[in-house]
Amino acid sequence: MTSPLISPSILSADFARLGEEVRAIDAAGADWIHVDVMDGHFVPNLTIGPAVVKALRPHSARPFDVHLMVSPVDLWIEPFAQAGADIITVHPEAGPHVHRTVQAIRAAGCKPGISLNPATPAKMLDYLIEDIDLVLVMSVNPGFGGQSFIASQLRKIEAVRKMIDKAGRDVRLEVDGGVNPAIARQCVSAGADVLVAGSAAFAGGPDCYAGNIAALKGG
Ligand code: DX5
Ligand code: ZN
Repeated sequence: MTSPLISPSILSADFARLGEEVRAIDAAGADWIHVDVMDGHFVPNLTIGPAVVKALRPHSARPFDVHLMVSPVDLWIEPFAQAGADIITVHPEAGPHVHRTVQAIRAAGCKPGISLNPATPAKMLDYLIEDIDLVLVMSVNPGFGGQSFIASQLRKIEAVRKMIDKAGRDVRLEVDGGVNPAIARQCVSAGADVLVAGSAAFAGGPDCYAGNIAALKGG
């Protein structure tokens, strides 16, 4: 089985030492840095704005994988692109015209991703798959780290994998929520190639990060 890319979610890092945490997780083998942006409206939590992304940018050369859980979303694309986002992922429920949102992400110089909530069907991608670079399958309801993986999402990962292969484009399939080393293997078997991990990546503090990431990669 090919080993997945790991995108640790800094939501589970020590917010009082965020720059150091990003450097430590980068040095420990993180492939991407996952930034969970929550607005207290689309999801019941409030987290990180573009100023924090800008401040973190010099701390890692890894792609910043920015997951926007905000509504309305369009007005935040340019600020996060300017702040240093590489990938910007949005939820179709976060604005009235998701295709236009995808075009705006591309126009801002970033790679567009679409995130599917646990109850959102894979079919939502039918007329988007040709225009995006990433599908993010949410395996928890968005809002908080440390929740349990929702097993039904494995079927969705399989369905999305088929859609991507059929489209014949280079689209990443990322899973987010409740991923630990055992679940990581199931997600990869179902077709995922990027795994977000918050609590499982940052558990135990900096001395454990390299081991945590190796375990998530299946090593
Ligand atoms: C949930 C976020 C996730 C979450 C992952 O809304 O999008 O990225 O923080 O954390 P764990 O891995 O702890 O579920
Ligand atoms: Zn996320």
